[in-house]
Amino acid sequence: MQKTLSGNPDTGSFLSHGPAATGKQLLSADRVAVWWLLLDEIRDADWEKLDSILIDEEQERSDRFHFERDRQVYIAAHAACRGLLSYCLGEPPRNWRFSVEDHGKPELICPPGQPRYRVNISHTRGLAAVALAREHDIGVDVEWLQRDAPADDLAKRMFAESERLKVKDATGPEKLETFLSFWTLKEAYVKAIGKGLSQPLDAFAFDLETDEISFRDGLADTAANWYFERYRPGPEHLMALAVRHPDKSSLIVDPQPAPLTYLLDLAGTHN
Ligand SMILES: CC(C)(COP(=O)(O)OP(=O)(O)OC[C@H]1O[C@@H](n2cnc3c(N)ncnc32)[C@H](O)[C@@H]1OP(=O)(O)O)[C@@H](O)C(=O)NCCC(=O)NCCS
Repeated sequence: MQKTLSGNPDTGSFLSHGPAATGKQLLSADRVAVWWLLLDEIRDADWEKLDSILIDEEQERSDRFHFERDRQVYIAAHAACRGLLSYCLGEPPRNWRFSVEDHGKPELICPPGQPRYRVNISHTRGLAAVALAREHDIGVDVEWLQRDAPADDLAKRMFAESERLKVKDATGPEKLETFLSFWTLKEAYVKAIGKGLSQPLDAFAFDLETDEISFRDGLADTAANWYFERYRPGPEHLMALAVRHPDKSSLIVDPQPAPLTYLLDLAGTHN
């Protein structure tokens, strides 16, 4: 079931108590932190500060985007990513380094013998998001609801039969929303396993009533190990989260709007 997010920090959440103090980390093995950033909320004067949180290679990449809106969403996603790592784990934002796995998934480099933190980002028109967990595979995906996508055609080519029928039966604006609800869940899963679109999307299916996954080949993966959530971070966007966890009942997922003031303050930290 989709959760509507208010945009106001939930005071009962572990992320709402402020950033990690020196030497203390906010993330236990059962906690998952999620931040999203709506680009409309960022003022023109803030972009330079957010850009300064990125490392040199990221800044060079951001400079290569042709369209300003693509550049901005890239900066927002990577600033939010570095910011969330610093907020939860307590190091300066430009300290974090990533390796790139076989199918392009960036993995945080953690010192041997230390907990392995896992982070994933997603960006779309007007919205960036980042999700962070300790040890567990994690994936996040966001999509813009105003996009022009041939929902029936794409579902027919890429989705499982049950999903294709749900998209086909939906009418009006619900068609695209149904398609993108499946799409974000499916992308969150393929990003969590690190395979991206090299993983055929029709090999598994979601039930939008329960947000549970099932696999065409029952041996391919274990549905009971996966936890999914869907959100509505704003009227124009959908977001989905995938976490592989052996005991879903103990998971504490904390989705919050990224605190822009914290991110802008980070821009003044030098390392
Ligand atoms: C990796 C993939 C899953 C990314 O999908 P995407 O929706 O384009 O992009 P997102 O914004 O959700 O995620 C991009 C981020 O995921 C991360 N990423 C890259 N490869 C990844 C992988 N194999 N697994 C997990 N994460 C990956 C990167 O951090 C990347 O951001 P960066 O390039 O700014 O560093 C890609 O294989 C893909 O599916 N592309 C198709 C997109 C598409 O056709 N969309 C149409 C929707 S109708």
